[in-house]
Amino acid sequence: MSLVSRMRRLRQPKIRDMVRETELTINDLICPVFVGESDTKPVEITSMPGQFRYPLNMVADEARAVADLGIPAIILFGIPSHKDDVGTSAYAPDGVVQKAARSIKDEVSDLIVITDVCLCEYITHGHCGIIEGRRILNDPTLEILAKTAVSHAQAGADIVAPSGMMDGMVGAIRGALDEEEFLDTIIMSYAAKYASSLYGPFREAADSKLSFGDRTTYQMDPANSDEALRETQLDLAEGADIIMVKPALPYLDIIYRVKSEFGVPTAAYSVSGEYAMLKAASRHGWLDEGAVVMESLLSIKRAGADMIITYFAKDVAEWLG
Ligand code: PBG
Ligand code: ZN
Repeated sequence: MSLVSRMRRLRQPKIRDMVRETELTINDLICPVFVGESDTKPVEITSMPGQFRYPLNMVADEARAVADLGIPAIILFGIPSHKDDVGTSAYAPDGVVQKAARSIKDEVSDLIVITDVCLCEYITHGHCGIIEGRRILNDPTLEILAKTAVSHAQAGADIVAPSGMMDGMVGAIRGALDEEEFLDTIIMSYAAKYASSLYGPFREAADSKLSFGDRTTYQMDPANSDEALRETQLDLAEGADIIMVKPALPYLDIIYRVKSEFGVPTAAYSVSGEYAMLKAASRHGWLDEGAVVMESLLSIKRAGADMIITYFAKDVAEWLG
């Protein structure tokens, strides 16, 4: 039979690879690293099998292992031994992230160090800002975030990543960094961060469970997508160099819209709950882990992400290497 188009012609071996539109490479990966100030040995996170909190004296080795796999960047999360009402240890010069960043920068030269800038791990009630009664205060939080970002830059962070969804946080941080002459410190803003149920395992890892309420007064409503464009536009206007969408898999439409609309470097955060889902099904033998992880990450890239924060980063680097 004569058919003008036979789509299967290009699905044969070799030519199928040649017409592939999207590729996932090691350069797309950012590896999360948890550092526990009170830990003395690696502690596995129950709801994230295969993921660990590392003690300060082991974090440079872990960073070395990540860099040796060819992964270009890590993002650091700190779990401090001391919490208070204002997040003092978030901006302490000898805080857990500051110490970790210093030791990594001393020992591993060829790795981009990103630091998550937020208060939730450092503050007693677990919210991303300081509170008055049950209200999360925006403007007083900005000052603390700015101090935190500067202290991270002083410790050697190449990129600071504010994740608290406070209005004006990017502008406050850019201003403070510039004032201290950190003109080249990059800001990767969690621009469109949704109030998602998929952060549960992270809160176990980071010991940042809420003592009251939820995060819906600052994180975005999963029902909204126009709002993601406004959030992104504001962060870019305030000086964000890279913007982020989070979570990733249930929000591919947001990644697509943000990338199409602004055409700026876009990161996607495939969060702890996404990891837990894929890991659990794989451990049960219900899904093929390697295949489902690669397909998921490829879909995030296809949607428009330039880089992906994923807890599978080391596995993927091994599979690709
Ligand atoms: C801190 C922060 C969170 C995550 C990244 N930075 C927790 C939250 O907002 O509740 C979640 C990451 C993950 O689930 O993997 N604000
Ligand atoms: Zn937070």
